Amino acid sequence: MFVLSGEELTLPFAEIRALVETYSKDSKAELVDKRISTSSVSDPEIVRKITERAGYCRFGGLIVSRSENLLSLANALEIDFVDPGKTFAVDSFTLSKEECGELGAAIKSRTNQKVSLEKPDYLFQAEAAKEGFLLAVSTHGYKTQSWRNRRPRARKFFLPSAIYPKLARVLVNLSRVREGDLFLDPFCGTGSLLIESAVMGIDSIGIDLTRWIARGGLLNMKGFSLDFLGIIRADSTSQLPLRNIDAVATDIPYGRASSTKGKATAQILHEFVDCISESFSSSSENPKYCIVMHPSHVELKLESNSFQLQEQHLLYVHRNLTRAISVLRKG
Ligand SMILES: C[S@@+](CC[C@H](N)C(=O)[O-])C[C@H]1O[C@@H](n2cnc3c(N)ncnc32)[C@H](O)[C@@H]1O
Repeated sequence: MFVLSGEELTLPFAEIRALVETYSKDSKAELVDKRISTSSVSDPEIVRKITERAGYCRFGGLIVSRSENLLSLANALEIDFVDPGKTFAVDSFTLSKEECGELGAAIKSRTNQKVSLEKPDYLFQAEAAKEGFLLAVSTHGYKTQSWRNRRPRARKFFLPSAIYPKLARVLVNLSRVREGDLFLDPFCGTGSLLIESAVMGIDSIGIDLTRWIARGGLLNMKGFSLDFLGIIRADSTSQLPLRNIDAVATDIPYGRASSTKGKATAQILHEFVDCISESFSSSSENPKYCIVMHPSHVELKLESNSFQLQEQHLLYVHRNLTRAISVLRKG
């Protein structure tokens, strides 16, 4: 079970669905309530990895009990988690403190475990979903992520076009990239996406047309002591000097905040999607993904392109800008 953050409309579930596909090809994620997703992933290590990678996920754990009645969750608890030597805590995003307390008491009497709110061996997460109550367990405790120290203003090199780490993380995750793959951001700017992909241990490379921006991006990567392949100064609207890329995610330049070097955004978008396909690795084992964030009013034209539009998410920024995140898939 994954508990999604309530920040954006469609992105949190799309991110979990992408990560489930990334690490467990045969599993599918489902949205069982507004903020609750379940899947058949049963390997705790994969659940931990997905939870840690996801920008818009508050909790991830294995479902250990389901019931139509809240307190019956304790009785239906799987026997593996009934270990008197262990400690536990109960948390929830959908239940009140009192309900968590009552469930905690029921779990205590069923398992003889002690409560430890700070460092529980088992963190039980109880949620009310449309079809009843769900109880999941995480053995890796509360989720910890430090977005603050990677926010645009905290980096060595800042531009107003820089995006926040959580959004950058989601763009990378939608590309279904995994450790050992080669990830490219072809309009990398200050390096927001590269920072997140490198933090996740993915081989990462960037391109930017403007020399001083490419240098700034490099400075940011070095500032976080991240292991990455580098940033190339090149034009991503023509054939790229790169092959064997496994996944692409990017935020294309538009108007005021970022340099378009005189080209209209629509032209940049079309030229880029026309030529990016050739830079992908030719292994046909898995589909390839190219994630493009662009203003929603700029239409994406894919006639005779080897990529197809799989899904699109809209993000309202202000009166004059709604962003579209287009998930393009090949194969
Ligand atoms: C929207 S910004 C990217 C911002 C980036 N996501 C960040 O968080 O810093 C777009 C970047 O594309 C670069 N750019 C513009 N035209 C380009 C082209 N033809 N090829 C490669 N990069 C280009 C700009 O210099 C700018 O840094």
